[in-house]
Amino acid sequence: MKISLSHLFLLLILAALLASCRGQPSEKPPIHTQHNMYWQDRFNAYQENPFFEDGRSMRLPVEGTVARGNLQDNPVYYQGINVDGSFVETIPVDVTRSFLQRGQDQYNVFCTPCHGGVGDGNGTVGEYGYIATSLLSDNTRQMPDGEIYSAIYNGINTMNSYRHQVKPEDRWAIVAYVRALQLSQDAGREDLQRLNIDPEQTAR
Ligand code: HEC
Repeated sequence: MKISLSHLFLLLILAALLASCRGQPSEKPPIHTQHNMYWQDRFNAYQENPFFEDGRSMRLPVEGTVARGNLQDNPVYYQGINVDGSFVETIPVDVTRSFLQRGQDQYNVFCTPCHGGVGDGNGTVGEYGYIATSLLSDNTRQMPDGEIYSAIYNGINTMNSYRHQVKPEDRWAIVAYVRALQLSQDAGREDLQRLNIDPEQTAR
């Protein structure tokens, strides 16, 4: 048989393809016939890099970089304050039943240890001599919704900020739930009647 150039070429391709098969499973890394992208020069994380003045190979994002969807340019929603710096009076989102339930869930996770399950300040930390404020006081009741939000976002006096633990929408949900607790812990006869609950049936 006459071996033409095209036969030789096909044979070469076949050989190249077979070169990457060992024929049996192996612990060794695969045989790479094409090296171009596999073994390029690069720096590992934390490796010193003489190219940059500060010697770091991991670069910081350019100043002012904002992650996608994280612009947070609405202070009313994200900080609980109006443009003039005053606290937002009322929760700027619709308060639905599921929203309130989310607030209860998040309150129970992040606030009960100190403020207690009903907001009276009797959280478990009390057993260790740590005292948290009641959220049922006149002071907290009279706060605009934005101020309670701000307590979560910025912290307040000796209380730390919880902005990194609690997402913006959940912060508002917690505010709504704190309001629900304030209502539930101070419901009078008229409130019960308004809700069609017979006050005589309710031990208080
Ligand atoms: C580690 C304990 C701790 C946790 C957890 C905590 N707080 Fe507080 N909080 C405090 C303390 C202590 C104060 C009183 C701060 C002060 O005035 O020095 C306070 C004060 C507040 C106040 C102001 C009350 C007032 O009338 O002055 C609000 C509102 C509040 N917390 C809301 C929350 C919410 C909502 C959460 C859950 C996201 C939360 N806190 C979680 C300890 C805590």
